[in-house]
Amino acid sequence: MNKGIIILDFGSQYNQLIGRRIREMEVYSEILPFNTSLEEINSKNPAGIILSGGPSSVNSPDAHLVEKELFELGIPVLGICYGMQLTAHLLGGNVKKGEKGEYGKATLEITKSNPLFTGVSRFSTVWMSHFDEVETLPENFEISAKSGVIAGIFNEKKNIYCVQFHPEVSHSEFGAKMLENFVFQICKAEKNWKLTNYIEKTVAEIREKVGNDKVILGLSGGVDSSVAAVLIHKAIGDQLQCIFVDTGLLRKDEGKKVMENYGEHFHMNIDMVDASERFLSKLAGVSDPEEKRKIIGREFVAVFDEESHKFEGAKFLAQGTIYPDVIESQSVKGPSAVIKSHHNVGGLPEEMKLQLLEPLRELFKDEVRKVGEELGIPHHLVYRHPFPGPGLGIRVLGEVDAEKVKILQEADDIFIEELYKNELYEKVSQAFVVLLPVKSVGVMGDERTYEYTAVVRSANTTDFMTATFSHFPWEFLENVSNRIINEVKGINRVAYDISSKPPATIEWE
Ligand code: XMP
Repeated sequence: MNKGIIILDFGSQYNQLIGRRIREMEVYSEILPFNTSLEEINSKNPAGIILSGGPSSVNSPDAHLVEKELFELGIPVLGICYGMQLTAHLLGGNVKKGEKGEYGKATLEITKSNPLFTGVSRFSTVWMSHFDEVETLPENFEISAKSGVIAGIFNEKKNIYCVQFHPEVSHSEFGAKMLENFVFQICKAEKNWKLTNYIEKTVAEIREKVGNDKVILGLSGGVDSSVAAVLIHKAIGDQLQCIFVDTGLLRKDEGKKVMENYGEHFHMNIDMVDASERFLSKLAGVSDPEEKRKIIGREFVAVFDEESHKFEGAKFLAQGTIYPDVIESQSVKGPSAVIKSHHNVGGLPEEMKLQLLEPLRELFKDEVRKVGEELGIPHHLVYRHPFPGPGLGIRVLGEVDAEKVKILQEADDIFIEELYKNELYEKVSQAFVVLLPVKSVGVMGDERTYEYTAVVRSANTTDFMTATFSHFPWEFLENVSNRIINEVKGINRVAYDISSKPPATIEWE
């Protein structure tokens, strides 16, 4: 990593944000578990270390700690929130339980100027989220800022700076400036992270690693697997064999579009497997959501496994694993470790002894998208919303059959088309239609109808852990509803889901 920034993860939900902010400055950043050894940290030769926030209290018996010697490595340290309390605690200060904590916006007053606050106004808004607070300072530390509590401390000689608030959150007015001051003025980090270099470097690495062997990749049409496929294809061309499993539970015409976009346009080898009947027959009569998930997951692995045996000579299995997946799997206990319990299903044929190839392992989602565009994948494809592995299997509520899937595909397609038409698609994080197993009465022309209800769902979120429903203009919703009811046979009523997460989830099952 040479001269990048290491972020030690104490479980804050904002950790990935810190990492991204630094990479946006074209400086490499890496998030490591808090208990990474000092040798390992040192061996990476970082320009600076950030101690992240975290949910625990330094005074609790099972607090996440670091070795005190971390502060003696001669590497500048920035402690954020829990990171500040930890620094104070380890170096001889005192941290006490606050009376009510501070959550949300607060006014920061800088009381002592220092390199972290160069160019920052004396008074500004910052984002707070803490209960404990620093009460007394370690020796040779000074207070740099206050809010209701001690909001900043530092030891300039040792290059240790701490803040109680979260500079990485956009609500902290001068947060970006402070991080920039830390990275460039205090750490003197080098600009060593550019995505165009990343593509060149990775293409060379893939060629070197793969040699003349063959690689198989499960292409889903989603952003990560598609970008991985195009990147690998750029490196080794026809040595890449993609497998696309059509579960029959995908969006309307998904298979056809994948063949057009990646098969025809990029000339990739794609083995398209139509397994819809297989999936539907396994799902027949099953209405429990978890059971449906399991069936779909199992079946996917089985189909992928069978299919991949067609390519016996393959030595590598490529996957679109991205950096947040890596962080989540290595993460310590804490909120940032509340790993999404549902990962996209993927088959790993054991006895084929395939080696993994994961060219996007180092990239955040927004970086994957930039790489995708750089590789020539059209904008609308790299900015697609996420789509769950079990697909429409969990959006047709209750029992799934071919007819209901078809009805849902048509309704969903109309909604998505209208979102694009009205330039709303990229303003929301995830949008789709759900088909309820409930029929209600309606009237069409002179006839009484008795048909299904569709629910339009759209969520805005940054991390998918919490979400609000999208606030659309009524006219837009009216048009979507009219189109669905008029154009989709089988639906006579449309509802809009106005629940937030929590307590509702984004998906209905
Ligand atoms: P929920 O419904 O839990 O969803 O609010 C959060 C995010 O996870 C996606 N999701 C899934 N993804 N397999 C997946 O690959 C699943 O079983 C699954 N369930 C939910 C959901 O679409 C949303 O983006």
